[in-house]
Amino acid sequence: MVTYDDVWSRVVTCGQMGGVMSFAMQSDSMTDSGENPVRGFLGQRGQPGRSGPRVLITAGPTHEPIDSVRYLANRSSGKMGVALAEASSARGWTTTLLLGPSALRPATSSSLTVERFRTTSDLQQLLREHWPRHDWLIMAAAVADYRPKHPSTETKLRRTSSDLALELEPTPDLLAELAAISRPDQRRIGFALEPARDLIRRAEEKLARKHLDAIVANPIETMDSDRITAHLLFADGSRFETAGSLSKAEGAEWVIERVEEKGREEGRESNEVTK
Ligand code: CTP
Repeated sequence: MVTYDDVWSRVVTCGQMGGVMSFAMQSDSMTDSGENPVRGFLGQRGQPGRSGPRVLITAGPTHEPIDSVRYLANRSSGKMGVALAEASSARGWTTTLLLGPSALRPATSSSLTVERFRTTSDLQQLLREHWPRHDWLIMAAAVADYRPKHPSTETKLRRTSSDLALELEPTPDLLAELAAISRPDQRRIGFALEPARDLIRRAEEKLARKHLDAIVANPIETMDSDRITAHLLFADGSRFETAGSLSKAEGAEWVIERVEEKGREEGRESNEVTK
């Protein structure tokens, strides 16, 4: 017998809404109080207004301080993560967007909550706090790999005639950390921005190393662009590729639909096994 913990999600209703195939899925997550009640269909669970997964999305760059006015950053605009949050909340799914330093303002929606972060460490805290109350994590943020080891956050470094060496330390791998504290029903989707010639090999390596359920692989040119060409690789070996380049809004829909379809498939498979 397959327990609820073995399934990604449960398909409970299926229908057409506004031209978008929409379905309500329910994961077997612990409640916020830590209880793990017997799961049933939505409504039986006593949470009538909620359908669909609760989705946690990260977007944008991190800023790692060097001193009180300078920082190390990258070219990420946050566009893809914001588009994903808009696509998820437009479905009525409870969506939390953790947004780094970015000028973007996501479209407001009653199902979308936005919290801001600046550093990898801020994001780490927010993820620890929010992840237990979500079902999917889509980690589109371009998190720094290194940060200044001794930032002078209270002062401004002064010019001298000597060279200046910045000592950097590795940041924690946030996805790998979350893998260790995730429940079996939660799903983690990472991003890999890689040189086109090595895209799939490197993405496959990250999918395994970070214990992800799926990874979106896109070439480096995607960063700060309005368009995306992407591959979506699932841990079960299934592979998808966009038909050419898409706007980031279209790319976000494409990713959400593929993941949604995977949830439906697993729901069907688990129904087969439990019959
Ligand atoms: N990521 C993370 N924590 C970090 C760095 C990255 O969780 N400290 C996440 C990113 O948000 C992304 C995925 O890991 O979803 C891949 O990020 P990437 O920078 O491509 O991978 P790295 O682990 O940094 O590996 P490499 O430096 O070899 O590219």
